[in-house]
Amino acid sequence: MINPWSSKQYFDYEKLKKDFGIENTDNFFNHYLFTRKLIFGQRSISYIEFAIKNKMPFNAVTGLMPSGEMHLGNKITIDQMMYFQSLGARVTIAVADLESYATRGISFEKARNIAINNYIVNYISMGLKPCNIYFQSENYDMQKTAYVLSNETNMSELKAIYGLEDSSSILHVNAPIIQASDVLHVQLGKYGGPAPTIVPVGVDQDPHIRLMRDLAQRYRIYNVKKENTGISVYIRGKNDPHEFIDRAVEILSKNLYKTEINYEYRSIKISNSAPEDDIKIDIILANLEKDFNDMTFIGPSATFQKLETGLKGGKMSSSVPDSLISLNDDPKEAERKIKNAVTGGKKTIEEQKQFGGNPDICPVFELYAYHNPDNEYVTRVYDECKGGARMCGSCKAEAAENISKFLKDLKEKRDESMTKINDYLMNKSL
Ligand code: TRP
Repeated sequence: MINPWSSKQYFDYEKLKKDFGIENTDNFFNHYLFTRKLIFGQRSISYIEFAIKNKMPFNAVTGLMPSGEMHLGNKITIDQMMYFQSLGARVTIAVADLESYATRGISFEKARNIAINNYIVNYISMGLKPCNIYFQSENYDMQKTAYVLSNETNMSELKAIYGLEDSSSILHVNAPIIQASDVLHVQLGKYGGPAPTIVPVGVDQDPHIRLMRDLAQRYRIYNVKKENTGISVYIRGKNDPHEFIDRAVEILSKNLYKTEINYEYRSIKISNSAPEDDIKIDIILANLEKDFNDMTFIGPSATFQKLETGLKGGKMSSSVPDSLISLNDDPKEAERKIKNAVTGGKKTIEEQKQFGGNPDICPVFELYAYHNPDNEYVTRVYDECKGGARMCGSCKAEAAENISKFLKDLKEKRDESMTKINDYLMNKSL
């Protein structure tokens, strides 16, 4: 069981993929986080590809837990959000102040200050373009949707997914439904209607992703299923299916699909579809359905990024200050931490020259791999390390210089970014 509130580190990504049905990222997206497999898995990302290819609207949604400092590990999520924004995504970011209150006891006022000063100002300085950032505690549409979604969520399910117990507080029970609503409510009519939605997360968030995908499906009248015999559509609900079937058949025929109707089974079989047409059909039917069902959601897609290793090995944790670099760190301080990091190097320079280092287990190499888009450069660092031409001392100094340059640049931009904050907040703050 993956529990998003216990802070373990997961290294066996292949096993995770197998156990939880997370899929490969092969051939999707030519961004270094994908091509270097730092995004190691995904769910239904083909919906996002489809939307981009067909110039259809799509969403990118994420949330930030305003609990401390934004660190390099959090940066990767925003790098992805910026990438999807550049591909045309409508970007929405939730400040999870209800969740930080529920799970860490952080007051709303404190959460607000942390979110703005430690996170959002850095997002803007990194280059995120204007988008919709909101506080969970202030977003009525999201809260109302969460209330309705909880009608389709029961305790035994939450117990199974999260290991919640009878003694768990209702606040804790609420958090996953709120998060589902963060992601799903952007598909309400008011926000543009049903559209594919990508949610970049760490793998610890997968239980939330599974729950929100299930919930999305439970509200759909038209359920599109890939079967051996082709694609079928099932009409959910207790109502007379005739009208739903007839309307769907009408629009499917317009799209040149041949259909076989079975009113008794509440089903439509499509006889001339290609296997990958399920996405197209799902989107067509969601757009039909939205006119009589405001809770029409296309199941959200997700990417799962690897957790960046802490500079001391193990996890990046605010309880080990030297294990992580915060985006608000003084550049000199960051340099010091990098110079004191553990590496994948050998014990002596002679051994290193002879046998080479091991960049695959090196947090310093990760600084290059996760934070430098230049493939040629990063490959060279890797090869030099493996081949014994690169020594840890100078490699650390070089990494420190790169990161400190990035931090200096952010620092210079922060004041100006603060003046732009109202272009990002849904509820203006100043
Ligand atoms: N639970 C997430 C975290 O701990 C934060 C979060 C809240 C979130 N709402 C979200 C993440 C919606 C992705 C999508 O970091």
